[in-house]
Amino acid sequence: MDQLLESLSDIENACWTELERASAERGHPWRTMSLATTDGREAHARSVILREVDREARELLFFTDARSSKVQQIAQFPRGTLLVWSPQLGWQLRLRVTLEVETAGLAVSSRWAQLKLTPAAQDYLSPLPPGTPLAQTTPERASRGHFALVHAQVRTMDWLELLPQGQRRACFDRNGYKWVQP
Ligand SMILES: Cc1cc2nc3c(=O)[nH]c(=O)nc-3n(C[C@H](O)[C@H](O)[C@H](O)COP(=O)(O)O)c2cc1C
Repeated sequence: MDQLLESLSDIENACWTELERASAERGHPWRTMSLATTDGREAHARSVILREVDREARELLFFTDARSSKVQQIAQFPRGTLLVWSPQLGWQLRLRVTLEVETAGLAVSSRWAQLKLTPAAQDYLSPLPPGTPLAQTTPERASRGHFALVHAQVRTMDWLELLPQGQRRACFDRNGYKWVQP
């Protein structure tokens, strides 16, 4: 940001604009997000690529393998956290989200139809679930994909600005926004 944003509504809007840009621009630092979930005993975090943003619905979309650990965790504990940092903006964003996995239907098949034409499709075609220890022999490739969508409904946004001239922090949710002590 060249100019400091003063109003909380401008800051919230700018966060959504950056999220939209991140879903469209390969090099955007917010495109790779850390997604934290829980299995009820401990936290699990991993990188995921932000694919789509629906600002009106306050929803983010990710692709995943339906057999991955995160999918099992989300089924039991749908609340998660997304974390990003942009050195260019000096902004950290922590999003508390409600997660939902979609494995069938038009939304899944239409995105798979596009993805299966790209090298990234290989990620979803392995007959082995992610994390399975590999035997010496190369596994046969399965004919069916295990592609799934992860919807993340944003419940709260925690924005932290780290600049040489100081820090600012604000929280946003459906009920409004407030400045908080960094
Ligand atoms: C840069 C980067 C991007 C990644 N993007 C995704 C992604 O969009 N979706 C996904 O399921 N895994 C993605 N992964 C792999 C995950 O971080 C993780 O290793 C995998 O999903 C298994 O996680 P889980 O066992 O916790 O489910 C990415 C990894 C890296 C390093």
